[in-house]
Order: sequence, then C-alpha cells, then structure tokens
Amino acid sequence: MNLAVQIAPKLRLANPVITASGTFGYGDEQADFLDVQKLGAIVSKGTTLRPREGNPQPRLAETASGMLNSIGLQNIGVEAVVKEKAPVWAKWRVPVIVNIAGDSVEEYARVAGMLDGVPGIAGIEVNISCPNVAAGGAAFGCRPEPAAEVTAAVRKATSLPVLVKLTPDTADIAAVARSVEGAGADAITVINTLRGMAIDVERRRPVLGNVTGGLSGPAIKPVALAMVYQVAGAVRVPVVGCGGIVDYRDALEFIMAGAAAVEVGSAGFANPRAPLDVLEGIEQFMQRENVDDINRLVGAARR
Ligand SMILES: Cc1cc2nc3c(=O)[nH]c(=O)nc-3n(C[C@H](O)[C@H](O)[C@H](O)COP(=O)(O)O)c2cc1C
Repeated sequence: MNLAVQIAPKLRLANPVITASGTFGYGDEQADFLDVQKLGAIVSKGTTLRPREGNPQPRLAETASGMLNSIGLQNIGVEAVVKEKAPVWAKWRVPVIVNIAGDSVEEYARVAGMLDGVPGIAGIEVNISCPNVAAGGAAFGCRPEPAAEVTAAVRKATSLPVLVKLTPDTADIAAVARSVEGAGADAITVINTLRGMAIDVERRRPVLGNVTGGLSGPAIKPVALAMVYQVAGAVRVPVVGCGGIVDYRDALEFIMAGAAAVEVGSAGFANPRAPLDVLEGIEQFMQRENVDDINRLVGAARR
C-alpha cells in the first residue's frame, strides 16, 4: 500500500499526515506521547527574525466546537531555530517544515534566507494568514498582490520547497491562491484560523487580551473543506488541507476534495495522538476499501 505523497518537487512525504504550525511546538517535546517519526511531516511554530513575546494574556478561549487563540507569534526567533532545533531535526527521518512570518516583505525574505541550506530543514511554510498580529500576517494574505509579493521574495531567498499558507478571511481565496502559485509557491496550505471573538458578559469585556483571536477546531471544518475544494480547482500545485481535522474521516474529506496532504492542529490539544490516529484510520480505510495508493483518493470527490 502506498501512502507517500509529493507536495513539492523536492519534498516527498512518507504519508500525508502533517502537524499544523503552532500546535506541535518544534516536535521535540512530543516524543513522550507519540512516535513523531511516523508522521508525514512536522510544521514548526511560526518563526520570525527576532524572538517575540506574543500578545497579552489571556490568549486562549474555548468556543462551541472550537477554540480561539491570540498567541501572536510568540517564538524563539530564527537564530535559535537554526542553532538549537535544526541540529535535532537533522537526525530525524520525519521532514520538518519551518513556518515563517514577518512584519514586512523584507523580514520574510531574511528569515527564509537564514533557513536556506540548513541541515534538518526540509521546507518553509509562509504564514501570510495570522489574524493575531497588527502588522504582516493576514494583512499580506487577504489580497492577491501583497500575497504574491511575499511569495516571490521568499522564493528568491531560498532553494527550499515553499508552501504558502492562506487565510480564509479574504473575498476570493482562489484569486489569492492563483497569485501565489504564479509567484513561485510549490504548494498551498488552506487554511489558517478565522478571525473571531468572545465576550465575558459579567466583566463586560472581551475574553481575549488581544480582543480578537483565530478560531480553529471542528467549528471551521466545513469552511476549510469548501476552500480546499475551491483552491484545488484553481491551481495546479499541491494543496495541503487544514482546519478542524479531528479524525481520519475528516482527513479523507480534505483529500477527496483535492488535498495532497493534511495538517492536524487543535485536535492534538484534546488528544495528543490525534495525528497518528488519523494516519492509522486512513490506512485501515484503504485496506477496507481496497485502495492501494493514497494518490487515487486525492480529488476523488471532484471527478
Ligand atoms: C494555539 C495555536 C497557535 C497557532 N500558531 C500558528 C502559527 O504560528 N503559524 C501558523 O501559520 N498557524 C498557526 N496556527 C493555525 C494552525 O496551524 C491551523 O492552521 C489552524 O488552527 C486550523 O487548524 P485546526 O482547526 O486543525 O487547528 C495556530 C493555531 C493554534 C490553535
């Protein structure tokens, strides 16, 4: 049975299950819960040029079938990723993709350039979709032109595979997808969180210190699935589906909508084994249904 998928010319994964950025740290603290080497890939926490403290507390809130977060790209900075994390990843079989963000096009390009050629780093995922920062993030991802500008600058700065992660908070996600494909993206991740908020009625104040945050979890799955379907019909490069995946059936829906691979995020907070449960469920489904190659299921619901 073949589970391997190609998500960029130079990035082949042993299977299509990836952990989503910001929900799995740097992959090095998870070894107690699950065998990270069995994953298709790991995407790191969002990485910026300088270390960041993130947004004021509280930064997490539960919602119906989901959660809100306003972490605001707290991270150790690109130099620490290169010095401390990459040497660990270089010993791993599982490829690690570094998620990057910045306040300006130049910052994205500098971070990408600093990761280029570093052993242990298999690719870059460009976050132009974070709803929790004042500058950069979703400001770049909500329109085709700035999205292409960031993508082109990152493409120029690195020979690593480049995935670009889109925001659902845009008028026309297919137009943004076509634009980043044209600017050199090897693959497109669909989607990041949706902007949301919650109010504590006794305190009469927003729950989150940042007022708004990003909504994730099962609540966003139908939205994410429709966007994956739409983007997969609009571009030729592989699409990586993300948003509300909890079990193997969710993952298969994204694959059948046209995703070559999937990212599992918030589900890991409730069940740290969620990514591997998803993978095992896909394998069992393929056995049951006599499917010998996962690639036969990619886009199956489109035909
Ligand atoms: C606590 C938290 C932190 C996140 N941090 C990042 C990040 O640094 N960069 C990024 O691109 N996405 C980040 N995300 C978004 C996830 O990678 C994912 O796109 C989103 O949560 C939807 O998937 P899910 O419903 O499976 O969680 C974060 C999500 C959560 C819940």
